[in-house]
Amino acid sequence: MRKREQWASKVGLIFAAAGNAIGLGNLLRFPSKVALYGGGAFMVPYFVALFLLGLPLMVLEWVIGRYAGAKGHGSMTGIMGSLFHHANWARVLGSLGVAIPFLIVCYYIYIESWTLGFAVLSLFGQMPKPVSTQDPKVAMEPYVSFFREYTEPSVLAVLFLVITLLVNWYILQRGVVKGIELTAKVGIPALLLMGVFLMVVSLSIRGGKGLEGLLYIYTPDFSKLGDPQVWLEASGQIFFTLSLGMGAIATYASYVKYREDVLKSAFWTAGINEFVEVVIGASIAIPAAFAMFGAMAVPELAKEGTFRLGFMSMPAVLMALPFGWLLSAVWFFLLFIAALTSSLALTQPLVSLFEDEMRWSHTKAVNVSMLMVSVGAFLSAFVPGFIDELDFWAGTLMLVFFALVEIIVF
Ligand code: TRP
Repeated sequence: MRKREQWASKVGLIFAAAGNAIGLGNLLRFPSKVALYGGGAFMVPYFVALFLLGLPLMVLEWVIGRYAGAKGHGSMTGIMGSLFHHANWARVLGSLGVAIPFLIVCYYIYIESWTLGFAVLSLFGQMPKPVSTQDPKVAMEPYVSFFREYTEPSVLAVLFLVITLLVNWYILQRGVVKGIELTAKVGIPALLLMGVFLMVVSLSIRGGKGLEGLLYIYTPDFSKLGDPQVWLEASGQIFFTLSLGMGAIATYASYVKYREDVLKSAFWTAGINEFVEVVIGASIAIPAAFAMFGAMAVPELAKEGTFRLGFMSMPAVLMALPFGWLLSAVWFFLLFIAALTSSLALTQPLVSLFEDEMRWSHTKAVNVSMLMVSVGAFLSAFVPGFIDELDFWAGTLMLVFFALVEIIVF
């Protein structure tokens, strides 16, 4: 058996796993869901799902990942194989746990490239000037058309996509310790700092009106608890935010030392992720929109979801503040780091499949993986509707199915 890499330190391992879980889901998806599905009342099914589904599955993925890693397997294909005496059906079923993250990263990485592009453009004063108005539609208009033009895709969008692909390529090529672990050790503290900073900024907009916004989204509407959709949405959010149900955590867990306390790692991963979701994630985008545009605008914005909130309403709010260009740059860099540490985690299962199961060299495994991801990313950029299609099949349907498989297997 070939020697596989192992995380070099406990802190590095925890940060890498936290980086895996913390993503756009924490900063954009979560606050929209809370605002839409009952505010504080959403937190009841949310925590029920965290304790009954999220934590057990998180522990499960750590345990099977460590077990199979010690036998030289890190992709779900190899992990399922090593659980069932390398039966073919198990390896085929397990391959879903490589296919899902691969399909997701094809569009995730394109969105990641927008965050980098917008961060750099903010820094260089290239974002549209804010319009001073209370009407969210008017205020957002310049940013809506800016976003449309950018994602057409513009030449700049393609340029930043190429840069983003190269950054991921380079980090993965450096390997688990010098690439992924190092990125997380620098990135996660930076992410926490920027997150707390923006949280303070958002909550204090207009002399504390943002804080009112936070109270607003957490105001419980208990009548929603009878609605099964609210329970479904809460469980879906738990899976998504913790990166569960597709083997991505198990792949990271396959690189631990055999004696590693995976129970502790599982709880730390979930704990840090929940802090960045329930505390930081809830306190930025929605409260800022509330402070700027009032309570009426919030459900409207939340309904339009992740992209509108992150790429149109946030810049409209931040650019209207003193040093808006800087705040906007911090916001998009925050999103970029969150997305980067997740896209690495989404690609690694494929790398591990090529290395562990096909015995390719690390260099070749990363090159082929990233070539495949690049093709997918360019399709996402140029084929209209490709993103939504992938998000539905891989991000929603296959995810739930595979999570079920994992539970039954265990
Ligand atoms: N957890 C990530 C987020 O909150 C999204 C995600 C889902 C993910 N599954 C993943 C990231 C697998 C990396 C690997 O945005």
